[in-house]
Amino acid sequence: MSDFITIPIQDSHRLVNTGNVILVSAQSQDKKTVTTVAWHMPVSNQPKLLSCALANKRYSLELIKESRCFCINIPEFKLLDAVVFCGTYSGREVDKCKETNLTAVPCSKIHGFYIEECVAQIECELYSMIEAGDHTIMVGNVVDAMAQKHLFTPDGVIDINKVQLIHHLGGTHFGILKSQEK
Ligand SMILES: Cc1cc2nc3c(=O)[nH]c(=O)nc-3n(C[C@H](O)[C@H](O)[C@H](O)COP(=O)(O)O)c2cc1C
Repeated sequence: MSDFITIPIQDSHRLVNTGNVILVSAQSQDKKTVTTVAWHMPVSNQPKLLSCALANKRYSLELIKESRCFCINIPEFKLLDAVVFCGTYSGREVDKCKETNLTAVPCSKIHGFYIEECVAQIECELYSMIEAGDHTIMVGNVVDAMAQKHLFTPDGVIDINKVQLIHHLGGTHFGILKSQEK
């Protein structure tokens, strides 16, 4: 164990979560926001449930509680500036789509919108909410999913030779996946 160092507990999640960053779009009546989320994961196959952890003060959380639905958008690395902006400012104060030139398009199955510039969208109806410390885990039941054709290989996995997603390593550190092994 001599080559090991103690990781501060507050940084321990960085050992397990380097998954690609998503943009969660949420709308309640005419109130809208797009929020950058790194803390997310699938939680069930049948029904197909995906989850994300939102801090209790997030505007997105408030809107999802009201509308009971949300959309997960998958941004490419070239959208990093917009992703950081959406993860810095609250929709309570700014119109994030306007400021970042992201295009909001109405969803097909839920009351909400997706981001046209993203390579995939997943529309979710709120399935359950789990209070977890200063965050709430929003579990969404997938009702529709769309992706650009080039996103997946014939094997049905993301083709990292064609698309570079954003992986959040912590703080202002981001990365991309570089090699695909079978
Ligand atoms: C890379 C990155 C990842 C983030 N991940 C999360 C997350 O998983 N959960 C969360 O609640 N906030 C996360 N944030 C912070 C929110 O995106 C940010 O506070 C945002 O301004 C909230 O917007 P809203 O109030 O309109 O919902 C992240 C920010 C960045 C830059």
